[in-house]
Amino acid sequence: MSSPVHRVLPEAKKRALIDDDKYLKWYKQSVKSPEKFWAKHGKRIDWFTPFTKVKNTSFKGKVSIKWFEDGVTNVSYNCIDRHLKKRGDQVAIIWEGDNPYDDKKITYKELHEHVCRLANVLKSNGVKKGDRVTIYMPMIPEAAYAMLACTRIGAVHSIVFGGFSPDALAGRIEDCDSRFVITADEGLRGGKTIPLKANTDKAIEIAARDGAKVDKVLVVQRTSAKVNWVEGRDLWYHQEMAKAKPECPPAKMKAEDPLFILYTSGSTGKPKGVLHTTAGYLVYASMTHEYVFDYHPGDIYWCTADVGWVTGHSYIVYGPLANGATTLMFEGVPNYPSPSRFWDVVDKHQVNIFYTAPTAIRALMGAGDEHVTKSSRKSLRTLGSVGEPINPEAWEWYYNVVGDGRCPIVDTWWQTETGGILITPLPGATNLKPGSATRPFFGVQPQLVDNEGNVLEGAADGNLCIIDSWPGQMRTVYGDHERFIQTYFSTYKGKYFTGDGCRRDEDGYYWITGRVDDVINVSGHRMGTAEVESALVSHDAVSEAAVVGYPHDVKGQGIYCYVTLMHGKEPSDDLRKELVGHVRSEIGPIASPDKIQFAPGLPKTRSGKIMRRILRKIAEDDFGSLGDTSTLADPAVVDDLVENRQNRK
Ligand code: PRX
Repeated sequence: MSSPVHRVLPEAKKRALIDDDKYLKWYKQSVKSPEKFWAKHGKRIDWFTPFTKVKNTSFKGKVSIKWFEDGVTNVSYNCIDRHLKKRGDQVAIIWEGDNPYDDKKITYKELHEHVCRLANVLKSNGVKKGDRVTIYMPMIPEAAYAMLACTRIGAVHSIVFGGFSPDALAGRIEDCDSRFVITADEGLRGGKTIPLKANTDKAIEIAARDGAKVDKVLVVQRTSAKVNWVEGRDLWYHQEMAKAKPECPPAKMKAEDPLFILYTSGSTGKPKGVLHTTAGYLVYASMTHEYVFDYHPGDIYWCTADVGWVTGHSYIVYGPLANGATTLMFEGVPNYPSPSRFWDVVDKHQVNIFYTAPTAIRALMGAGDEHVTKSSRKSLRTLGSVGEPINPEAWEWYYNVVGDGRCPIVDTWWQTETGGILITPLPGATNLKPGSATRPFFGVQPQLVDNEGNVLEGAADGNLCIIDSWPGQMRTVYGDHERFIQTYFSTYKGKYFTGDGCRRDEDGYYWITGRVDDVINVSGHRMGTAEVESALVSHDAVSEAAVVGYPHDVKGQGIYCYVTLMHGKEPSDDLRKELVGHVRSEIGPIASPDKIQFAPGLPKTRSGKIMRRILRKIAEDDFGSLGDTSTLADPAVVDDLVENRQNRK
């Protein structure tokens, strides 16, 4: 199959930091002599004590990953202080509120003061180096201050996306034993409020039942809504900040000191606390930010993600700020107050680099070109995509309509675990094929293997592994190193297994085909089907549940649930609604089931294993090719499932 190729645009090549020759040369060096390559690029950040050791990593046995291990540095120093002399008055953060009339600009000098004050607030309330701080915030500058203040004193932040429910928040507070929570009275998105403080109160109550204790809750006033107040525990952000000193020295952090924990879903069990450490992560986030987006000083850069996801960590806060960039933080949603919001913001702030998710592109494509074409978008130079495979139609629309055919698209493949982008085009170097993430970034060695682990060479379709470490890689699952080894290094021994399927074409380009495990990707949000199943079975009426993804025009994948009811319970539309509400309250609105099919039985093998392959096919309305069903304990259940399928075309 040959795909259309969009050749490197001459303009992009002219201004680019990296052209194809340089890419090929650097890539070769990076895999041939990683020590030498990363010794050079490790110097892109400032060190209090320079490293002498570069790479000390093993994917075998106990799995140990250390980069720059004897170096000493500090993330907030690198993201703020080191820029003060040259660009203290430059805008570090442009904040664009949910309401288009609401915005502000924060210079590096101001950022320094906010972060120092907040670091002092944390300290004076007992937070010490190594302590875990949970951040449950809307997209306001205080979220970035909170992250940076933690890094300033060596506290480890754990951000929980503001769309998660109290239950989900409680689980994450408990897992990392976090005693300090930073939140806001309410969040504001698309004109609707989100009761963050009330959710936090509930979460703390839930966590307390398991013996977890939160000592302090720092509350930012966002909407000034009236909130419940626990004297002695709750603190107003503005009051504490006013009392705090505007200077706080950055803590001396070892390269491998923990930086943050971010929970993410896998195919089994509860979400894992992905742990990233200090120096390798920052080197990798800043380097990828510069080269992948072809960032030049003075550029206005906008990533539309939420800081609750890894994209927000690496490419709203740490990467751009380490590079002294102006990063735009957006509180709202793409279609509020109208589907032209993104492009209005691009024009308003003269955005040069724009990075978003395919789900947003598809939704805006559906709203009609006129919302785009009425804006100028002349400032745009590089467009980015992340989070899920981008279908070629959406890619072409993004390229031709949004970018007017003059901005390269970087389709960046990576994961929470990888810390930064691993497979991606570079704007001035890579010919583009719509739908392909193209080629590996420096130092990244992808490998495709079949299900038995045999290495596939040349053009092939297989499971995507990475065979050697890169500095941004996660170091462990918080509190459970064995799970880290099991999850990522045991399927194919000695290799990092990504969980993604992938095709490599005749030009060596990589095409991510989606997850090969029981993880689904809904609007770029990653979700374990097991989590949704356990939320469903926690409802009184449900005896058993099986959840699969199915192709969805806008969301990429939708959530399809098969539910077997308890004896005596009757299927009904009301019960369906109740179950949707139940999952929303257990996990959060992002996990809302799209389809619920009541099923008298699920297809199981004689040993009791649910045959998901069959459930996936039925959910896709592709029941003509169910394959072999003869090994089922009761083949008749399939007829009922097909008969009552919810996705009839
Ligand atoms: O399946 C891949 C998909 O998103 C997964 C990682 O999800 P998460 O850890 O939440 O991080 C998302 C943002 C980095 C991957 O295993 N994915 C991410 N980017 C792409 C992608 N699939 C295809 N193309 C991409 N560009």
